[in-house]
Amino acid sequence: MTQFDRNFLWGSASAAYQIEGAVAADGKGESVWDVWAHLEGKTHEGTNGDIATDHYNRYEEDVALMKKAGLKAYRFSISWTRILPNGTGIVNSEGINFYNRLINLLIENDIQPLVTLYHWDLPQTLQTKYLGWESEQIVHDFTAYAKICFKAFGDRVKYWIVMNEPNIFTHLGYIMGVHPPGKHDEALFLKTYHHTALAHAHTVLAYKEMGLEGQIGSSIAFTPAYSSTSSEADQGALKSYYDIGPWWYLDSYYKGSYPESAIEYYTSQNIEMPFKKADFEIMKAAAEVVDFIGINYYQTAMVAYNPIDGVGISSFNTTGKKGTQKESGIPGLYKTVKNPNIEYTDWDWAIDPDGLRYGLVELKARYDLPILISENGLGAFDTVSSDGAINDDYRIDFLRAHIEACGNAINEGVDLLGYMTWSFTDLLSWLNGFKKRYGFVYVDFESTDLKRIPKKSFYWYREVIKTNGEAL
Ligand code: FCB
Repeated sequence: MTQFDRNFLWGSASAAYQIEGAVAADGKGESVWDVWAHLEGKTHEGTNGDIATDHYNRYEEDVALMKKAGLKAYRFSISWTRILPNGTGIVNSEGINFYNRLINLLIENDIQPLVTLYHWDLPQTLQTKYLGWESEQIVHDFTAYAKICFKAFGDRVKYWIVMNEPNIFTHLGYIMGVHPPGKHDEALFLKTYHHTALAHAHTVLAYKEMGLEGQIGSSIAFTPAYSSTSSEADQGALKSYYDIGPWWYLDSYYKGSYPESAIEYYTSQNIEMPFKKADFEIMKAAAEVVDFIGINYYQTAMVAYNPIDGVGISSFNTTGKKGTQKESGIPGLYKTVKNPNIEYTDWDWAIDPDGLRYGLVELKARYDLPILISENGLGAFDTVSSDGAINDDYRIDFLRAHIEACGNAINEGVDLLGYMTWSFTDLLSWLNGFKKRYGFVYVDFESTDLKRIPKKSFYWYREVIKTNGEAL
């Protein structure tokens, strides 16, 4: 018996900067990624999204492939600077037209559009003008942009994702310094994150006020964790990990508060808290009416106590050389260690399908909201065999196990709206270039026509969808 509802959203996801290309076409303004990726040494092998998969010009071909795969839903993001080239002010009608064409084509093909409003491509003008997310002005400007999108597309778009992984882009941008604007400053990290929470809250409330028929939420990168041993020290490390990590990110969006213990920790470190009392009223009001939690799930973490002279935050494995990821953590609290019980990808991401079930059940217990898996997938080096096929059985195994985990979570009472794989076509990885592939459709980045070739997993997913999750 299938656990999946008749209306379960089987789909795939993407993000504007990672697929669209055409970075200056039809009046599009510059985003922080258009600038950052061109700075020396910022991305793996100097890759950038100038062309990416050229989806802007090839969206018809891509939607035809989605139709062939039988997708029920497709999640994509709107590029803010196509709509408002300078972030605010005059609307660029050609940007609106592009997304209208895409949305209409999806609907004509019975594919439900799920639209992300912010997948990291901040207008460069706003970064230059007031340092983007560092200023509270962004909350106002973002909400105004969101309202333009609701007005333009809200008659046809029934699922909105306000923010994509605000925890990742602020952490990478303000602690690790590997995403724009490349800073290392914990107070700014907390402040920018808080501004994303406020922007989310104002946007959710604005959407509800407009009275459109549809659902809205945001997507957080969720990495559930286990403690390395049952010792008191490791259990305490696990609690710190959750309060500073997942619960900090999710509570602010879905409860309208931050975990007390984490506030105490930051205060003990003399880090200034960025919030005002009135902020929580807005955040709580939004948490009461928000429709679903979006999660992007890739892996779990194993956490152990980290002594005060222990490791700090370390950089990522961006090369795909397995085993090069170092331990990373917060001295005095916790560190992530290798989990001896599970396999890792070439980029050292833990492969843990049951962690998805476990994480979903945790979220249900803590927030009791419907959940959308807005990303899940496997990054790998795919190769084309001599007969032209891409036999990505490892991806099929990965996705099968994760879909089974979804079924198990549903059996445990989780209300799951849908499952979006990352990604439909291969695309640009922010920091890992074009060699780390996630798609059901191979893109030959070497060919001038960026040839698309469905992989073995494409046909497999088609059967999964056709049988509503029976044929795994
Ligand atoms: C997530 C991002 C997405 C993609 C995947 C692999 O963190 O949301 O854009 O790069 O990772």
